[in-house]
Amino acid sequence: KPAPTASKKERNFVKKMKEQVSVGPQGLCVQDLDIVRGRNVIFFYGSQTGTAEDYAARLAKEGSQRFGLSTMTADMEEYDITYLDQLPEDFLAFFIMATYGEGEPTDNAVDFWEMITQQEQPEFSKSSESEDPEKPLKNLRYVVFGLGNKTYEHYNLVGRTVDKRLSELGATRIAERGEGDDDGSLEEDFLGWKDDMWKAVAEVMGVDENSKNKGPRQPAFEVVEKDDANLDNIFLGELTERKQTNGTRPIYDAKNPYVAPITTRDIFFNSDRRCLHGEIDITGSGLTYQTGDHVAIWPINAESEVERLARILSLTDKLDKVIVVKSTDPASTKPHPFPVPTTYRTVLRSYLDISAPPSRQTMSSLAAYAPTDKTKEILTRLGDDKDEFRVVVADARRNLGELLEWVAQADSEATSFSTIPFDLIVESLSRLQARYYSISSSSKAHPNQIHVTAVILDYKPTSTPERTVYGVATNYLWSIHSQLNRIQDGSPRYNIEGPRGIYVSKDSDTPTIKLLVHVRHSNFKLPRNPALPIIMVGPGTGVAPFRGFLQERAIQKRDGRDVGKTLLFFGCRRSDQDFMYQDEWPTYFEKLAENGSRMTTAFSREQSTKVYVQHRIQEYREELWQMIQQGGYIYVCGDAKNMARDVNGEFVRMAHELGGMTEEKAATFVKDLRGRGRYQEDVWS
Ligand code: FAD
Ligand code: 2AM
Repeated sequence: KPAPTASKKERNFVKKMKEQVSVGPQGLCVQDLDIVRGRNVIFFYGSQTGTAEDYAARLAKEGSQRFGLSTMTADMEEYDITYLDQLPEDFLAFFIMATYGEGEPTDNAVDFWEMITQQEQPEFSKSSESEDPEKPLKNLRYVVFGLGNKTYEHYNLVGRTVDKRLSELGATRIAERGEGDDDGSLEEDFLGWKDDMWKAVAEVMGVDENSKNKGPRQPAFEVVEKDDANLDNIFLGELTERKQTNGTRPIYDAKNPYVAPITTRDIFFNSDRRCLHGEIDITGSGLTYQTGDHVAIWPINAESEVERLARILSLTDKLDKVIVVKSTDPASTKPHPFPVPTTYRTVLRSYLDISAPPSRQTMSSLAAYAPTDKTKEILTRLGDDKDEFRVVVADARRNLGELLEWVAQADSEATSFSTIPFDLIVESLSRLQARYYSISSSSKAHPNQIHVTAVILDYKPTSTPERTVYGVATNYLWSIHSQLNRIQDGSPRYNIEGPRGIYVSKDSDTPTIKLLVHVRHSNFKLPRNPALPIIMVGPGTGVAPFRGFLQERAIQKRDGRDVGKTLLFFGCRRSDQDFMYQDEWPTYFEKLAENGSRMTTAFSREQSTKVYVQHRIQEYREELWQMIQQGGYIYVCGDAKNMARDVNGEFVRMAHELGGMTEEKAATFVKDLRGRGRYQEDVWS
């Protein structure tokens, strides 16, 4: 780790907190400015897809506006966390921590996680001088909120562990830990926790709602329109500041995705379901992957949604106006929320998540700017009444544009919401996030290509079955496919011209289209020793990584290696409808077949009762049990919610019935396989 002073950015957050100037609590008028030196509350976040980061920002804002606290947010990886022991006793630190995958920390919290979990006595900045080395954090006061998903086994493990470890290291928890479940309603869990938490915090910090900032809302961002912009320097969808071309090859990662050409073909294309195979070209990029990794695809929003939101905000005529958006908080780690100068259109298309339902808290913020009394009343009610919010917004999956249209319909006088300042839109909506896909090629077979297998998402919400909601990234991919292959259907329109999707040669018969990608390393890996048998279970798109695994095993075999028995359990609805890569499987198994390697299918809808992969597993259980006895590895990929749980249950039953174990022992046996990396899951919900 670099020494704190060696880096250009200040990594000592305590120093930064003390030095920062904040404005308040009087409001915005220059003569009223009440300059407060220093920040006394810091909100660290461990965030993968931006939700924890949003929550940290929302809490920081609420702390400042409602209680006059002097707050700042902090990306965990931007600061040297060993300074936690220097935070003065009257300060407060929040930890807003997401748990990712199999109980893992988010990428930006890995260092902190390793420090507090792998070392019994982690080294803090003043550890060597400490009078009480067992309690290095005895000055620290803290609050934890964990974000997790109950579908996964290690629910909120990161938030819980951080809470436990901070307390063991002597720190004082000043409010109950909050936990949000993304499988239920993260937002409602968060809102439900917040009120009691603020009561406890207000008491400890000696503030109350009377200390709140009076006067107008203090915007978190400032939006400045530019008339004299140099069009060459405008960001039209790039994720990062333009790279200096100093001869060195850039490193592509989550903060600097690669602009890669993609080609596509459809795997199935029925009246109600579509699935795409994409081949992303990484030749010459320096980007590498390993079989079993994930590729992140950075989507854009459909142009129809960009235009819808612009229309209701009366921005249609200004969409291509150049703007600069800056954070008003000098302590912010990000002076700009996205690369600027940019345009309104780009912000709506590439940077803000305008396609997901907005939060309930946003309803209340927007109500203050409603154009009429009636629309104000509706928005206020949606903000206050969680049942009504659930029906109208959450369950119906209405995005902000659709919601404002719905509100406007109730009042003939409300023709637009031009009264809502754009900075509030930037503040209220999350940043558009990359979507992950299990890479469906082997890096040995295709070192210069990343293959993806994606089912295009569209659905009719149960509460409003007359509407169709379209998944952002998959319909973006479909739009690319349609434009490459000149398909015309009723799918949403995407504008894929510009740096996020570039027509390199528009006039030729086959235009080139590029999109932003990066690779995320995963632990979903074949056994080091190819001679070990493997059992792969992947219904639907869950089969994606196993196409890569099979390509890899076939190459190992070709190279004269001893390759163990290889079984694939695949399930889909019907053999003539959604049987992915049907023609390819025989070619892989041809090379492996001599030891009994094969594919077993479960077509769920070809008979009156459902047949799923776990039923096939049961059918072949003696053979599978023998493979497990021989040191075999089990891999499960796809739906986390039902399939992965049911398949796990099937293996537990196998251990119970064939291994002669009690049910409890059988469950421990499978758990133990997981612990040793012999039962691996790559699942999503
Ligand atoms: P979004 O716009 O993100 O919409 C998805 C959201 O819509 C869901 O989160 C849910 O809240 C909501 N939703 C979905 N269906 C309904 C419904 N019926 N009713 C109400 N709400 C609903 N996908 C693949 O196709 N192939 C893969 O190989 C693959 N691998 C993955 C690997 C990992 C590690 C992870 C985390 C995910 C993977 N996914 C894969 C899923 C993928 O990342 C996307 O989530 C998926 O493609 C949908 O993205 P989208 O942008 O089109 O949809
Ligand atoms: P269904 O849609 O007919 O119920 C890929 O989506 C396949 O997984 C489909 O055949 C689907 O069947 C099946 N599937 C649905 N729920 C499942 C579960 N709990 N376990 C295993 N497969 C399941």
